[in-house]
Amino acid sequence: MTDLIQANAGRNASPQPQDELVALAEADRHRPRFHFVSPAGWLNDPNGVAQWNGTYHLFYQYNPEGPFHGNIMWGHASSTNLVDWHDEPVALEPSAGPDAEGCWSGVLVDDDGVPTLIYSGRHDGVELPCVAVGSPNLRTWSKLPENPVISAPPPGVDVPAFRDHCVWKQDGKWRQVIGSGVSGQGGAAFLYESADLRNWTYLGPLLVGNAAAQEPEASDWQGTMWECVDLFRSGTRDILVFSAWHEGDTRHPLYWTGTYTGDTFSPYSLLRLDYGGRFFYAPQSFEDQAGRRIMFGWLQEGRGESAVRAAGWSGVMSLPRITEEVQGELSFAPVAEIASLRRDHRSLTPRSLGTTEILDGVAGNQLDLELDLELEPGAGFRLGLLAAVNSDGSTAEETVVEVGYDGDEAGTLRLDRSTSSLDPDVDAEDKSGPVPLAGGKLHLRVLVDHSALEIFANGKPLTARVYPSLDGDAIRLSATGTVRLRKGDAWRMAGIFSNPRKLRP
Ligand code: FRU
Repeated sequence: MTDLIQANAGRNASPQPQDELVALAEADRHRPRFHFVSPAGWLNDPNGVAQWNGTYHLFYQYNPEGPFHGNIMWGHASSTNLVDWHDEPVALEPSAGPDAEGCWSGVLVDDDGVPTLIYSGRHDGVELPCVAVGSPNLRTWSKLPENPVISAPPPGVDVPAFRDHCVWKQDGKWRQVIGSGVSGQGGAAFLYESADLRNWTYLGPLLVGNAAAQEPEASDWQGTMWECVDLFRSGTRDILVFSAWHEGDTRHPLYWTGTYTGDTFSPYSLLRLDYGGRFFYAPQSFEDQAGRRIMFGWLQEGRGESAVRAAGWSGVMSLPRITEEVQGELSFAPVAEIASLRRDHRSLTPRSLGTTEILDGVAGNQLDLELDLELEPGAGFRLGLLAAVNSDGSTAEETVVEVGYDGDEAGTLRLDRSTSSLDPDVDAEDKSGPVPLAGGKLHLRVLVDHSALEIFANGKPLTARVYPSLDGDAIRLSATGTVRLRKGDAWRMAGIFSNPRKLRP
C-alpha cells in the first residue's frame, strides 16, 4: 500500500470552497447511497452512539471544510429506525481553550436525564478529556468551564497518546476507560472513577498490552497505542474493543475477551474484530432500548489523495451491526431494520454450483445478497461482484469474495480486490480471516453500496472499499469441488438521502 492511500492522507491540506463541496460529493460515482456519509468533506470515527428517548443518535468526527482531517468537530445525525438519518446541527466545534485544535472522539451518557458528552479536546498537540452538557433535544451543547476535566495522563507513565473514552455507571459511580499506551511496552486502557463526571480519580491501568509479543506486520498486532476503547459485556464474556495504532498509522480494530472484575481486565484471547482491518476502524457500540448491542465503525478511504480531493468527501459510516457472543467470540450481523431498504426481490434457484455463471436478472452496485450454501470438505465458493466482463468472456474488472472449507469446523473468508479496479492508485490488499463452518454450512450476507462493501460469513465480518472504474454490475458465481446453493435471495437497495444536504445543517 502506498503512502498516498494511508488513512490520514490529506490531513492538513488546504480547504476547498464550501458551496461546491456538497454537489461535488453527490456527483461521485463511488459515493454510497444507503450508508451514512457526511454531507460532504471529511468523516471519521462514530461518536456518542446512543438511543435517547427512543431516537437513535450518531455523532461523528467531521470536517466540513474539505475531505481531509483538520479542525475536527462533531457532526450529528438522528434516526428513528437506524436506516434513515436526519442531519442535525453540528454538536461540538473547536473554540478557544482546551479543544481549540479539535473536538476528538468521545461518548454520550445520560447523567440523570442530562445528555452529557465526554470527548477528547485537542490543544497544543495533545488531547485531554472534556465534558459538554446538552439541551433535552440534544441540539445545543455547552462546554464545561472546568475543562479539561482530567489535566494530564496518569503521573509517572510515559504515554504515546491519551484519548478517546468509554464511560458507564457502575454501583452508583461513573467509570471511564481512556485509550493510551505505555511507551516501550504497548497499548493500554486506563481506568478512572467519578461521582459527577467532572472530578475523576485514577484507579490504575485496566489493561496494558505487550506490543513486542507479536510481529508488527501481523493482522492482529496490538499496536503501541489503543484508540477508541470500548468495554462491554456480551453473553458470558467481557469484551474490550480497541483500535490498534502505531505512530500515526491506523492499523485495525481488535478485541480482548476476558473478565472485568474490580479494577482490572483479565484477558483471555485477542481477536480480530473485522477482517477488513483499517476499513472498519474506531468502532463504538451502545446498548439500545431493546437490549441489542449495536456497533458502528468508520470505513476509511482506499483511493489516492488526489481522487479523494476531487471527490469532495471522505469516509463512510458502517451500517449499524448487532454483535453477540457466540462460542466465546463476537458474531455480527447488520441490524434487521436494514431489510426495509430491500427492493425488487429475486430468489435464486437452489442448485449445485459449478463453472462460472453470470446471474441472470440480478445485477447492480447497490445490493443486498443473502446466500445459504453447503460446502463439501475441500470445496471453494466464489462470488464475483461489480464485474465488467469483456465480449470474449474475460474479466475486465471484478471484486471477488471467496469462502473455502478446510473440513471439520473451519473455513476461510477472503476478499480478493486484485482485479477490482483498473485504477493503479487504489488499495487492493488481500483481506482474509477464519470463519466457523460446522458441517460446511455457510450463511453469507453481502452488502454492496458502490465503494462500500460489507460481508458477513457465518457472523464474521469483512468490510472494505472498492473503486471499480468500468461501472461493471454483473454478479458471477462459481465453485470448485461440491458447493450447493440451498437458498439465495437478492435485492436492489433503496437510497437513504433524497433532499440536498447542507454542509452545516
Ligand atoms: C481514531 C482517532 C481517535 C481520535 C480521532 C480524531 O480514528 O484517531 O483516536 O480521537 O480519530 O479524529
